[in-house]
Amino acid sequence: MNFELKYLALACLLCTCVPAALSGQTAARHALTVDASKSVAAVQPTMYGIFFEDINFAADGGLYAEMVKNRGFEFTLPKTGWVEPNSDRHSMNAASGMADIVKVKDDPANQNYLRVTVKDPAGYQLINEGFRGMGVREGATYDLTFRAAAGKGDLSAVTFQFLSQDDEVIGETTVSLDGDGWQEYAATFEATATDPEARLLLTFDKAGTASMDMISLFPRDTWKGREKGLRKDLVQLLYDLEPGFLRFPGGCIVEGRTLARRYQWKKTVGSIDERELLVNRWNTEFDHRLTPDYYQSFGLGFFEYFQLAEDLGAEPMPILSCGIACQFNTGELVPLEELDPYVQDALDLIEFANGDTTTAWGKVRADMGHPEPFDMKYIGIGNEQWGPEYIERYKVFDAAIKAKYPDIAIISGSGPFPEGEYFDYGWEQLKEMNAEIVDEHYYNSPEWFRENATRYDDYDRNGPKVFAGEYAAQSVAIASPDNKNNWNCALSEAAYMTGLERNADIVVMTSYAPLMAHADAWQWTPDMIWFDNLQSYGTANYYVQKLYANHAGTDLHHITENGEAVTGQNGLYASVVSDAERGEVYLKVANTSDAAQELDITIQGMSLARQGTAYTMSGTDMDAVNSFDEPMKVSPEESDISLRNGKLSATLPAKAFAVYKLRVAK
Ligand code: AHR
Repeated sequence: MNFELKYLALACLLCTCVPAALSGQTAARHALTVDASKSVAAVQPTMYGIFFEDINFAADGGLYAEMVKNRGFEFTLPKTGWVEPNSDRHSMNAASGMADIVKVKDDPANQNYLRVTVKDPAGYQLINEGFRGMGVREGATYDLTFRAAAGKGDLSAVTFQFLSQDDEVIGETTVSLDGDGWQEYAATFEATATDPEARLLLTFDKAGTASMDMISLFPRDTWKGREKGLRKDLVQLLYDLEPGFLRFPGGCIVEGRTLARRYQWKKTVGSIDERELLVNRWNTEFDHRLTPDYYQSFGLGFFEYFQLAEDLGAEPMPILSCGIACQFNTGELVPLEELDPYVQDALDLIEFANGDTTTAWGKVRADMGHPEPFDMKYIGIGNEQWGPEYIERYKVFDAAIKAKYPDIAIISGSGPFPEGEYFDYGWEQLKEMNAEIVDEHYYNSPEWFRENATRYDDYDRNGPKVFAGEYAAQSVAIASPDNKNNWNCALSEAAYMTGLERNADIVVMTSYAPLMAHADAWQWTPDMIWFDNLQSYGTANYYVQKLYANHAGTDLHHITENGEAVTGQNGLYASVVSDAERGEVYLKVANTSDAAQELDITIQGMSLARQGTAYTMSGTDMDAVNSFDEPMKVSPEESDISLRNGKLSATLPAKAFAVYKLRVAK
């Protein structure tokens, strides 16, 4: 089975979904009652989090602000990303020069470097094309670093220039190669114009040879101003979500298409130069979106993920390979008796995150600049694995982790589908083992989301907790390239999420997936955040997630109509939480019907201030999407609301989602 088949399987499921039964109704009055006198359950601080995977150029070319693609010449075709428009190989007439790859022995992280031979300095050019170009902003400062050794001849300086799309020079610096042998060089320069698809041109002063490696360029203005850091606008979008956790590094990327190509966290920490590059498993997964130039430099590695989680105030939630390669691809299995190194990786990771600086891995963390522990509380074992193969391996991890770190909560998986044979088998086995938190994934139609708001109402309250770890409404079909982040999907998710919230006693973590996509280099859509080399925006789905996460609350309360939970009757969905620390109450109501709904909401058992705030997303254009030109087209509008005699009367427009924020009276 491959990914395409996964979609087919799910497409069949979609066909059986009942269409929204209740649209097209006339406006009705609804008397809803909130019982705020008691907390039905604690809402976990992890309730609304984010799932980061390096898919769609989300890391290299995205969050990780490196602008040079293939800086170390380590891609399978080592000159990928580099062009020589008039090298000797391309011109029969003139001998200008050329660059060759030199192989290095016995260093898996540094197998190649580039040797440039310049014959005609006026003629030879070496260009890095960036990640679908380089985003360059007028007046911004860029930090260049590289390693080089001057060789034979007179060549003694390299000039680096930003080239605009019109081939204008829009920023430059020249660096003299003045040391003996290999040296580290650094320079800083400014861009004189803005261009989302600039390139970096290297020229050389004289004829001769030079060896070069790790040619790297970053904007100075990164998140928290960290050198060689993360893209500020993208982290800001994440920060604004106030996520309860950060799951990383995926997704199927954890598993790899083969075991050899699984994600190995130990290869992603320590000096950046020593991080061994790996082909990205999404590079040629989809015939319709081939990106053969997609690799993982691991500049964004496990240390940086932990640091990001800390910056976001989110619990770090790493997921590791359980010894099974992606079952949609090869499904390679590590024999049980050979699982030790995989289990050791998990134990060592906990030491890396939490161990004191006298431990081997705690010291690695400290040496990277973070002597304090990261206080990791969760670890995921496996992603979308299924069958006895998974359960057998999971048991080995579970026993080893619990023996050494009984307080670490382990996240297990229930496979790729939200129902069916794999799912049932996984849940049954995990329940028997008293697993703690089971990860569920559902990519499904908007109708499915609207029809399944009661999914967790009947779950066993004595069984494992649920992590709704990957979900997103698909407007066309699972992972279809035509899927859109439209209002129909976002509203359906908003409606569904009332069901997650109403079941906060067992649903303890949730995250939309995937998180990010480069507009010119994606493989999978829909995605919560879109970006190009200079800009980024949150989708309608982003704003739904943000409304939930910013109003996550600490305590769940019942909201009913005629004594029943509000789960889609007349297209109306509702949930209510209060926040004990902030002294606020948040009512979330979605209306998926074609008519406005008049709401009379009585709040019992809590004395509330008269004035409150509504955040409403609405619109009857269900195809509406946000874009670079209209980034806030589908986003919340803020308005005042007021209570009369403890009752909130509000009109919720057709096709709308609102959060009503009320304050506890002083
Ligand atoms: O989110 C994209 C992919 O969907 C994830 O990598 C995987 O877990 C799921 O199949």
